[in-house]
Amino acid sequence: MKILANDGISKRGIEDLEAAGFEVITTTVAQDQLENFINENKIIGLLVRSATQVRKDIIDNCPSLKLIGRGGVGMDNIDVAYAKEQGLHVINTPAASSESVAELVFAHLFGGVRFLYDANRNMPLEGDSKFKQLKKAYAGGSELRGKTLGVIGFGRIGRATAKIALGIGMKVIYSDPFIDKASVMVDFYDGQSVSFDFESVSKAELLQNADFISLHVPAQKDYVIGNDEFNIMKDGVGIVNAARGGVIDEVALVGALEEGKVSFAGLDVYESEPKPEIKILMHPQISLSPHIGAATDEAQDRIGSELASQIISLLK
Ligand SMILES: NC(=O)c1ccc[n+]([C@@H]2O[C@H](COP(=O)([O-])OP(=O)(O)OC[C@H]3O[C@@H](n4cnc5c(N)ncnc54)[C@H](O)[C@@H]3O)[C@@H](O)[C@H]2O)c1
Repeated sequence: MKILANDGISKRGIEDLEAAGFEVITTTVAQDQLENFINENKIIGLLVRSATQVRKDIIDNCPSLKLIGRGGVGMDNIDVAYAKEQGLHVINTPAASSESVAELVFAHLFGGVRFLYDANRNMPLEGDSKFKQLKKAYAGGSELRGKTLGVIGFGRIGRATAKIALGIGMKVIYSDPFIDKASVMVDFYDGQSVSFDFESVSKAELLQNADFISLHVPAQKDYVIGNDEFNIMKDGVGIVNAARGGVIDEVALVGALEEGKVSFAGLDVYESEPKPEIKILMHPQISLSPHIGAATDEAQDRIGSELASQIISLLK
């Protein structure tokens, strides 16, 4: 029983699968060789992240395949409905990376309010010759404590982000047209926990009241944040997108940064990924990360073991 983890899988996932009698192949097979490889090796389970495409051709031409697994959330790279119609199991691990993404949002926020994204660019260049000027340039930071975080999309990652915000003393408001009310339990290291109850507010109310905004919606047809939305935000707002490229209109974002409406943005995802626009990459008020929200050892371990346990229960 062979499983091909074409975009990699954590050691933990491999160990769990091997202990249950599966053989795990971690070779990265090129997209155009994939069909041959699956057929020659009689692969029954194909595990991917976001790189490998699993389209109709593979589903139709690989009769040994019984399961397609996505390590992570979005399944845009898999023809899910078609695979299910053909009787294949299609699984993913939606919850495994929520905390990691939420922590990255806060990396951008904490860095944003103290200008670290820019200080880290300029200290290596001028830190020895213009220390005092840089010290002055990056003074005037602010604290997150006591400020309002507006979370757009209150699913798994939105709530995980809210938990961190609550833990550091922020007020949280959210907007989600599909979730009217929600409770969030903040757990502390010693077993104590505190529950917070929330009600969704309209997007306009959130935009008008938030000091910082973080987006946690799935891929959408239209922008969630464009010129109209920037216009009604508080002056000097900070905004983070670790959801999907295309959720924020990047042209409108650059305009809002240049007008001073937005003080900084943190981006993990880009409209033109994997080739983000140079204007975005070079912008001094944008904190950048290359789509690494889920890329922690802990999340990858959880992804691997969640995939393994689903495969074991479906295929054994
Ligand atoms: N940066 C990364 O590496 C990374 C990793 C994992 C997930 N993600 C992305 O994070 C996003 C959220 O993931 P999740 O697991 O929390 O998903 P989820 O399905 O649990 O939550 C999404 C929420 O968004 C809400 N929503 C949908 N459309 C909305 C809209 N127009 N306005 C407000 N709310 C809306 C839904 O009702 C839902 O509650 C996804 O886009 C996912 O692809 C990014």
